[in-house]
Amino acid sequence: MTTATTGRTTVRGAVGTAHTRIEGRDKVTGAARYAGEVPFADLAHGWLVLSTVTRGRVRSVETGPVLDMPGVLTVLHHGNAPRLTTDYVGMLGLPDPTAAVFQHDRVPHSGWPVALVVAETPEQAREAAEALVVIYEREPHDTAFVATHPDAYAADGFMPAVTEKGDLEAELAASAHVVDAEYTTPEEHHAMMEPHAATARWDGGRLEVIDSNQGATWVRGELAKLFSLDESAVRVRSEHVGGGFGSKGVRAHQVSAVMAATTLQRPVRVVLTRRQMFSLTGYRSPTSQRVRLGADADGRLRALEHRSLNQTSTVYEFVEPSAGVARVMYDADAHRTANHVVRLDVPSPTWMRAPGEAPGSFALEAALDELAERCGVDPIELRLRNEPEAGPVSGLPFGSRNLAACFREGARRFGWADRDPRPGLRRDGRWLLGTGTAAASFGAGAGPSTALVTAEADGGFTVRIAAADIGTGARTALTLVAADALEVTPERVRVRIGDSDFGPAMIAGGSMGTRSWAWAVTAAARELRERLALGTSIPPEGITVRSDTTEALGALTQKERHAYGAQFAEVAVDTATGEVRVRRMLGIFAAGKIVNPLTARSQLVGGMTWGISMALHEEAVRDRNTGGHYGPDLAGYHVATHADVPRVEADWVDDPDPDDPVGIKGVGEIGIVGAAAAIANAVWHATGARHRSLPIRPDRVL
Ligand code: MOS
Repeated sequence: MTTATTGRTTVRGAVGTAHTRIEGRDKVTGAARYAGEVPFADLAHGWLVLSTVTRGRVRSVETGPVLDMPGVLTVLHHGNAPRLTTDYVGMLGLPDPTAAVFQHDRVPHSGWPVALVVAETPEQAREAAEALVVIYEREPHDTAFVATHPDAYAADGFMPAVTEKGDLEAELAASAHVVDAEYTTPEEHHAMMEPHAATARWDGGRLEVIDSNQGATWVRGELAKLFSLDESAVRVRSEHVGGGFGSKGVRAHQVSAVMAATTLQRPVRVVLTRRQMFSLTGYRSPTSQRVRLGADADGRLRALEHRSLNQTSTVYEFVEPSAGVARVMYDADAHRTANHVVRLDVPSPTWMRAPGEAPGSFALEAALDELAERCGVDPIELRLRNEPEAGPVSGLPFGSRNLAACFREGARRFGWADRDPRPGLRRDGRWLLGTGTAAASFGAGAGPSTALVTAEADGGFTVRIAAADIGTGARTALTLVAADALEVTPERVRVRIGDSDFGPAMIAGGSMGTRSWAWAVTAAARELRERLALGTSIPPEGITVRSDTTEALGALTQKERHAYGAQFAEVAVDTATGEVRVRRMLGIFAAGKIVNPLTARSQLVGGMTWGISMALHEEAVRDRNTGGHYGPDLAGYHVATHADVPRVEADWVDDPDPDDPVGIKGVGEIGIVGAAAAIANAVWHATGARHRSLPIRPDRVL
């Protein structure tokens, strides 16, 4: 029997040092298995059939001919599928009924799941799914998102729909300079590398689901409720996840896989195709936004109004809270923000990286740039003159707000001081050149989590937490955090994640994952270290401490908690072809203590790169007649590729969160915030033309 005895240790300082991904070698050699790859004996394969009509009813599903096809095991549809419980409130509120498949004959949008064909091989399932005849009763549909839609209404979502103070019209009338502009952003898709995939099986009376998601305990909770099972009877595992961006929650693939595994009593895998993802896994709604700003002659804001409208489905109300960003960024004597939705016959949108902030910052930060032009004040100086003392709407003190430090450092490194503010003056051959800037912010929250930390008999430590590493490097970050809390080197720590059996934990979302999990890991690790301090001998099963941060988070004092950033872009615009090229970008962030500079920088650069994509490329277009997309794939839906992405630099200023045990705020989403506005502002500086609709396509530039 091996017995370790703990000794005094003084190792600290893993947090803040660059560390390559612990599972990096497994990922690049293919040893890491994703949800669609884990082998099972006797595995059957399900293929979803999506509606070809945009609104109506399923009159019949002609299963007979398909059941005679080679390898076909069953066809599930609304007439024979297990019944689900759908009137529950989950961890993140009411569920999107799109996931509760085959419960009725109604078709609320194009691409609605109407059947699952299960066969011995994926090829057989696909062939049978394509042969399956479904007869529909069609009804007229409305999929046209327009700013003036008569059915739009103010809606709360995760924040109050409307905030209001002061007399907006009076302050606008008294302003020396006014900007009143409308901005639009298109429907955008997450387009993460790994499509949604799940394998479900019953294992000794317990349901096990191998899945690609942003929170194993979250998905476990939803599946348990849908299928009326005790949570302890469900285990969800998601060891490796190839991107999520808000889209990887409970969806049709897991639910239909569980139904089929239950019906057939054998393991069933359902993998979505890229085209199916465009209908089934959420997206960022198009937005229409109006911003009205009024300022004194020197640029001090007297009036600020930010209104937003997004579309949602007829079955689920999802609010893209684009006006929310104005509640944090700038104060004014009169201040009004409002988020609206309109229900259309379209799939339900969902969270997508920086929901609200990404489109909202495009409108608000572009409007600020227009105001700077009107006032004849430098855009950075304008923002500094309008730095609020406290939360503009909440009135709460800021936990820390280092936006000004980001602008100072960014301006120095970008060379902003030499900038001539006049537009349309700089040429490089056929290119017009310009530079632009924008501010960024994103909430710095935390969610309750539990962690288990074990001192092993061999002298190592094992951390267990139901965290999700969606490609962010969470596993590596938590290793560094645990090492510091245990006062050992990272090599002695092994972190296991992505298993709902490890207990409740925050999802990888809202830029809160690393912070929430690090809090729980730190609490358990510190307590364990104290227990071991006196040279305890460790039994073969180890010594385990469990933490739960619910109480600690509840005790946090009320503050306005956000990360901030300053985005800079230089663009070149070819006025003959309308082509816009980003030449360089710089983002300086105040985003709390940076746990792993290597992966944090990748997160920020990734967000900024997505900002380039949002500014210039991404746009999912719907055909009003069919209600479906044109080109729902990565050929038709353009994302920035290598040739579009120049030198993108991300860095940060010192900004530890004073109320967090490690000082973390979160870096998941802030990288995209303000990035599209900085590019649009640079395009104006290059050409003298304002582009208020994204993407800034060549045909719009001409
Ligand atoms: Mo993020 S949109 O909260 O996954």
